[in-house]
Amino acid sequence: MEITFRLNGEDVTATTEDPTTTLLDWLRARGLTGTKEGCNEGDCGACSVVVTGRDGTAKTLNACILFLPQLQGRAVRTVEGIAAPDGTLHPVQQAMIDRHGSQCGFCTPGFITTMAAAHARGHTDHADQIAGNLCRCTGYAPILRAARDVEGAPVPAHMIETPPEVPATSPPRAPRPLADHGARGPGPDNATAFTPVSGDDLAGWYLENPDATLVAGATDVGLWVTKQFRDLGTVAFLNRCDDLRAVTEAGSALAVGAMCDMETLRHAIAPHHPSFAEMLRRYGSVQVRNAATLGGNIANGSPIGDSPPPLIALGAVLHLRRGDDRREMPLEAYFLDYGKQDRRPGEFVERITIPIGGPVLHVHKLSKRFDQDISAVCGAFVLPIADGVIRDARIAFGGMAGIPKRATAVEAALAGRPLDETTVAAAVKSFGKDFTPLDDMRASATYRLAAAEGMLWRTFHEMTGVSASVLEVRP
Ligand SMILES: Cc1cc2nc3c(=O)[nH]c(=O)nc-3n(C[C@H](O)[C@H](O)[C@H](O)COP(=O)(O)OP(=O)(O)OC[C@H]3O[C@@H](n4cnc5c(N)ncnc54)[C@H](O)[C@@H]3O)c2cc1C
Ligand code: FES
Ligand code: FES
Repeated sequence: MEITFRLNGEDVTATTEDPTTTLLDWLRARGLTGTKEGCNEGDCGACSVVVTGRDGTAKTLNACILFLPQLQGRAVRTVEGIAAPDGTLHPVQQAMIDRHGSQCGFCTPGFITTMAAAHARGHTDHADQIAGNLCRCTGYAPILRAARDVEGAPVPAHMIETPPEVPATSPPRAPRPLADHGARGPGPDNATAFTPVSGDDLAGWYLENPDATLVAGATDVGLWVTKQFRDLGTVAFLNRCDDLRAVTEAGSALAVGAMCDMETLRHAIAPHHPSFAEMLRRYGSVQVRNAATLGGNIANGSPIGDSPPPLIALGAVLHLRRGDDRREMPLEAYFLDYGKQDRRPGEFVERITIPIGGPVLHVHKLSKRFDQDISAVCGAFVLPIADGVIRDARIAFGGMAGIPKRATAVEAALAGRPLDETTVAAAVKSFGKDFTPLDDMRASATYRLAAAEGMLWRTFHEMTGVSASVLEVRP
């Protein structure tokens, strides 16, 4: 399989027999060892690189869980390509020197690339931007000072990239033998990878290859390869399906394509559901959010995925496609049981419609670490008040059962009652009817039930004008 992209300003064509070769492995085998391997699972940022897509937007991504075919037609800059071609240091490199932002230096290439991507986009929320980069020795204050120093500094010309034109290899829509489809590897008689360029391409091909693994952002699938050493067999890389990425606002709903990444969703949802956007700020790191897609977060059926609880509480609708056959369902109906979803062979998530303009959504994510941590419990609450009482409450949780699930007994206990302390004190007792949570390394069942109760109390306080930051310490 051949993958063409721009690497540190020069077009390259990578040839690989294995479509699940990661960019990190490929770079290091090529001698570009500035990109480090720390965790090899997206957690530490040591492998961060800057990737620019066709829209010209520079993003930081973790090379350890980025497969080569995901780079087709994009531009990559590793730490070796951050200084200008004449050797002039990038402003963030100079600032890191001036501010003593590096000690052992292992994490430094990852910080430099992440900070350079943030600088190129004019971001000044530095703590959020570097939350996915771990440093064991320097401490973050000098690094944050360096990031602040370069606010407003001009973006060096070489950092403004135009990725190479790579012709679309769109297959015909009618079912055809596997070898007739688009770009693939390792060879026509032993095809294992497909790179569709639209939802139509994918639909026809997936119908014929229902056992294939779809790869969206690879923030789950990447770990199947790097940690579980799984052979994925036939794979389809969806990253060139731009039509599956679109976000459109129509009346009282936002239609979000399955391939929309979490960082784009965070910004798109912020004006409508700020609490959802604030929760997404703590979803993984900026590197993970730049890769992870909404479709992947739903399709994987995880009981601890962060997007299903708020989407279910909002009454979002899931749109599935199998060939030319489309169907839709309320999102909660998709999750049948632990590891079991209502998705037929050859069917994929096409988009999600999210109601906007309705009652306020409150989302609470509880994890051991504030940033870059999987939720122990994620609760979402929509408690509309009409004529002084709660009507049509919708409450959904992740981490409380084998699937993301509504708290129907708690909803019933709230229905038709005024929003006051007596109502909430009575309703929290119903969490035990709704959920029998698991004990695991993230939290015990007892703690999870107590956390869910606390989240309803917190929602009540927010709705009655007493809002508290989880980072705030009160005596
Ligand atoms: C470091 C790190 C931190 C993380 N933090 C969080 C977090 O805070 N909260 C959280 O919820 N998750 C977190 N995750 C998990 C992961 O980011 C999510 O599950 C993510 O949304 C998966 O999306 P993806 O696009 O990367 O999916 P992929 O890994 O590409 O795919 C995941 C699964 O979905 C399937 N799939 C993908 N797209 C489709 C589609 N359109 N139709 C049908 N099937 C499809 C794939 O075949 C696969 O089975 C984290 C992961 C990492 C590595
Ligand atoms: S090596 Fe840790 S995020 Fe890639
Ligand atoms: S400088 Fe040593 S890990 Fe950051």
